[in-house]
Amino acid sequence: MTVTLEGFHAVKHALRFAPSLVRRVTAVDPSAAVALCEQLAPDLVTVFAMRVAEGLSDHPTGVAGVAERPAEDRSVLSRRTSPLVVLDDPRHPGNAGAAIRVAAAAGASGVALVGPLDPWHPAVVRGSAGLHFALPVLAAGVQELDGPVWALDADGDPLGQVPDGVVLVVGSERAGVSPELRARAERVVSLPMTPGVSSLNLATALSAALYAWRLRA
Ligand SMILES: C[S@@+](CC[C@H](N)C(=O)[O-])C[C@H]1O[C@@H](n2cnc3c(N)ncnc32)[C@H](O)[C@@H]1O
Repeated sequence: MTVTLEGFHAVKHALRFAPSLVRRVTAVDPSAAVALCEQLAPDLVTVFAMRVAEGLSDHPTGVAGVAERPAEDRSVLSRRTSPLVVLDDPRHPGNAGAAIRVAAAAGASGVALVGPLDPWHPAVVRGSAGLHFALPVLAAGVQELDGPVWALDADGDPLGQVPDGVVLVVGSERAGVSPELRARAERVVSLPMTPGVSSLNLATALSAALYAWRLRA
């Protein structure tokens, strides 16, 4: 199955993390795109210049691409040495993408998405800047999650030290963590906020929790 890459950053990360999966790179103005690559990703200029062809893109960078989806790695659902992120029914593809981006940056073992949103929808891949290619990203059911589950919730107990192999659940934009995942959680944990602030954006909350883990580790 293929995935559409919208924009230079999505193409860049696909080329960097999974070059063999990239099928097509196009740009409205190939020489301008190569100049952009020289500026933003000098490590990729040779491969980018070799592969880019003239073609349509409605992204502001004028760059687009197509790649194969990586083979699905479901082993992270049961075995891992860093947190597995679970996005519980995210509604906004941009939020899901931003969460995948920070999961890749902070060193999470993977991201599992519970709910109807396709984790590989082009808008999610655009939101992650193509960092889907840097770690396993998959759809999963609650019953498939193995290991200690911590649910992030503004009304939970103080976060404390995040274990390496934890399943870290982030709730959806409006409804928060579902009753099913809340029941599965051994801890419900919160990030402190200034009085009067009701909640953080889901990717922001995830970022704080993952970096609390990473900076301690
Ligand atoms: C926009 S919030 C959801 C707000 C929702 N109205 C609720 O009642 O939970 C999205 C998700 O971000 C996480 N989150 C937001 N603020 C948080 C905080 N202060 N501590 C821990 N998690 C937080 C939670 O996982 C939450 O479900």
